[in-house]
Amino acid sequence: MDTFHIEGPVALDGMIEISGSKNASLPIMAAAILAPGVTTLRGVPSLADIAVMRQLLGRIGASVEHQNGDLQIDTTRINNPVGEYDILRKMRAGICILGPLVARCGRAEVSMPGGCAIGDRPVDLHLHGMRELGAKIHLRNGYIVATAENGLKGKRIFLGGPFGSTVLGTANVLMAATLAKGTTVIESAACEPEVTDLANCLNLMGARISGAGSPRLTIEGVSSLKPVEYRVIGDRIEAGTFIVAAAITGGRLRLRNCCLEHLLAVVDRLERMGVIVEPTPDGCIASRTGTIRPADITTQPYPGFPTDLQAQLMAMLALADGNSVITEKIYPDRFMHVAELNRMAANLRKEGPSVIVAGVEKLIAAPVMASDLRASAALVLAAAAANGKTVVNRVYHIDRGYERIEEKLNAAGAKILRKNE
Ligand code: EPU
Repeated sequence: MDTFHIEGPVALDGMIEISGSKNASLPIMAAAILAPGVTTLRGVPSLADIAVMRQLLGRIGASVEHQNGDLQIDTTRINNPVGEYDILRKMRAGICILGPLVARCGRAEVSMPGGCAIGDRPVDLHLHGMRELGAKIHLRNGYIVATAENGLKGKRIFLGGPFGSTVLGTANVLMAATLAKGTTVIESAACEPEVTDLANCLNLMGARISGAGSPRLTIEGVSSLKPVEYRVIGDRIEAGTFIVAAAITGGRLRLRNCCLEHLLAVVDRLERMGVIVEPTPDGCIASRTGTIRPADITTQPYPGFPTDLQAQLMAMLALADGNSVITEKIYPDRFMHVAELNRMAANLRKEGPSVIVAGVEKLIAAPVMASDLRASAALVLAAAAANGKTVVNRVYHIDRGYERIEEKLNAAGAKILRKNE
């Protein structure tokens, strides 16, 4: 298993190219099912999660090639509309083949996704949306069996849940609705940029979707979609992580291929903390020279502060000049990094869905364990700012969602060594 040996503290200084978005790429890869033929996606990052999605598409009959960020997905033949457990247990995003398969094949069997380190992640809203479109759904041996022999029918659907909108649930129902008869209106749709990117790609394929980026999506069903060439958006979570990397180390990073518009809530908090984020034509320059000021953060669906940057901001607030409160409103249990950051001399106390962060003057290197993707990123950032050599175990979590993170950070002055031990 790979580990990172990270020496700190360093002040990062340099330029980093942001990769294409993982969370935009995954549903757009599934969208290729809807358009028989060869879809070419550009800017798709080389990540473990993308490889899992390729494997999933391969099993249903598609052929997929990935070279230099270009992904070619040939969906001329889809002969096995089944999402198997051995894949779905590894990656929950596999669930978003359900909608496209039912729309194209009239049926699908997709394993219920496995448990997840960041907490309970039900799929009831995905199933509700598919039922509303007329699919018959039952569960058999841990598999969701969905059928719509006479096709799907458009309808007005409310897709909100106890924690607000659902990103992949919206993607699933949106994809299915493109080929449904009549008009579908999804209310309380997710507004995340990754959903808008999916809608843009589907529209290029010939779908008729309006309202992307708002909580009401209107989809007029069409009879077929055609394959396209499409470039996915830059990864706003990777960009946010590197802005925090510049800020926590008191350094300066220029980020390219980053859309600041997608990071409004994050930049708002960071500026309050004393970080300077200057826009550039293709991204931004992030830097910090003064002390880190405390700030309260509450995660929310977009355009609110993203849960996927909560752990990274916590690492930085651990070094603030005062106390902060971080409240998680999407995944109330997504706090595995708290104990690990405390091992590095942070002063964090969990109280229900919140963490009280009492700022300390310095973090001290320690052996720590990565538990999920974003928690691992937080540990890497903390280690770059901490005194001494931190060993981060189980970095396979970070490889799921950050493309060559150690190479990118090392080029800007970090001291990260990957070891297989
Ligand atoms: N929810 C339900 N029922 C459902 C679906 C979701 O109650 O059927 C709840 C969830 O439990 C959660 C909330 O709704 O409390 C939002 O979950 P959502 O469905 O939006 O999450 P997701 O679509 O499964 C995506 C990202 C996550 C990111 C969340 C929230 C992908 C592949 N994953 O997951 O990304 O945290 O949206 O923004 O797009 C990551 O990249 O590290 C990651 C976990």
